Amino acid sequence: MLTDSYGRTATDLRVSLTDRCNLRCTYCMPPEGLDWLPKDDVLTDDEVARLLRIGVTMLGITEIRFTGGEPLLRRGLPGLVAAATALDPRPQTALTTNGIGLARMAPALADAGLDRVNVSLDTLRHDVFEKLARRRRLDDVLAGMAAAAAAGLTPVKVNAVLMRGINDDEAPDLLRYCLERGYELRFIEQMPLDAQHGWRRDDMVTADEILDRLAAEFDLAESDAATRGSAPAERFRVDGGPATVGVIGSVTRPFCGACDRVRLTADGQIRNCLFAREESDLRPLLRGGAADDEIADRWRAAVAAKLPGHGINDPAFLQPSRPMSAIGG
Ligand code: GTP
Ligand code: 5AD
Ligand code: SF4
Repeated sequence: MLTDSYGRTATDLRVSLTDRCNLRCTYCMPPEGLDWLPKDDVLTDDEVARLLRIGVTMLGITEIRFTGGEPLLRRGLPGLVAAATALDPRPQTALTTNGIGLARMAPALADAGLDRVNVSLDTLRHDVFEKLARRRRLDDVLAGMAAAAAAGLTPVKVNAVLMRGINDDEAPDLLRYCLERGYELRFIEQMPLDAQHGWRRDDMVTADEILDRLAAEFDLAESDAATRGSAPAERFRVDGGPATVGVIGSVTRPFCGACDRVRLTADGQIRNCLFAREESDLRPLLRGGAADDEIADRWRAAVAAKLPGHGINDPAFLQPSRPMSAIGG
């Protein structure tokens, strides 16, 4: 088991498979991209698969989420999904993607045993997409979502980050689009994790604001805040249900007390929190002939040192040096 000193147990492993991405979302990275990890630093498929096995069979991991950067850029993704779903006990598997290439990959991922996908979609307008993600790929994303639903990678969850003055007028349109297609939409408060360190609290569109905007056009009922367990999204029934809309209010409604997550970066670091200031390096163990027990021990120690919360609201908060795209959200 992976337990920390505040009584939380990490059962949900978020695995970043690459720090690279084919979009350049303004809340994430600069137009020129970042200094990507050198190829030799990135764990091989075999190394990742070994860590998945150790996590599931020795440490109590029950859910594996593949992330990036953009995880569909990782050639070995279907093989890693298959490796995960072949484990006993079989973990739940999910993918968080920007959707580009998903239209082509969805059937192979479903065949490999992937259970479901979360796709980022911040706007339905081509010009806004280009401004926000700095690429003209909206149609690819929409096609990816449809293909995922058709391949049974459901529920398809949709993540939207609202930016003041750019897409914050689109919340109702995004919700209508998702309701019509049976996707589960969640709005995310922007977090201070961008590579440019440009986050400003006053610019952030808050959970309260988002809910106010939606309430003007939809009937929102019954927050599941009391029963949602470790889920980051607080969900509301829309217009009598059964469909729901969620808000992930990491900043104004933190949920760290119920956190069940631990992260593995593409270069083999265990991060016990999105906002961790320290990492635990498994790569030298993997490449130095260490036994499974030794790797499991270092992993346990990394989670044991987890802090109670992300500290974004503390006056002394310092943004972690690793940006979102290299942690995996
Ligand atoms: P499901 O609802 O189970 O599919 O997963 P999820 O919402 O955890 O996953 P997803 O990868 O879609 O992430 C959605 C948003 O939640 C992203 O902005 C993540 O960065 C954020 N998020 C995920 N885990 C955490 C966490 O531990 N802490 C915080 N603050 N945010 C998180
Ligand atoms: N704050 C909040 N969410 C973010 N994402 C990327 N950067 C940030 C940020 N700074 C979102 C993406 C994706 C999810 C994994 O995280 O839009 O949907
Ligand atoms: Fe890529 Fe995701 Fe960052 Fe956008 S938020 S640039 S899709 S890693």
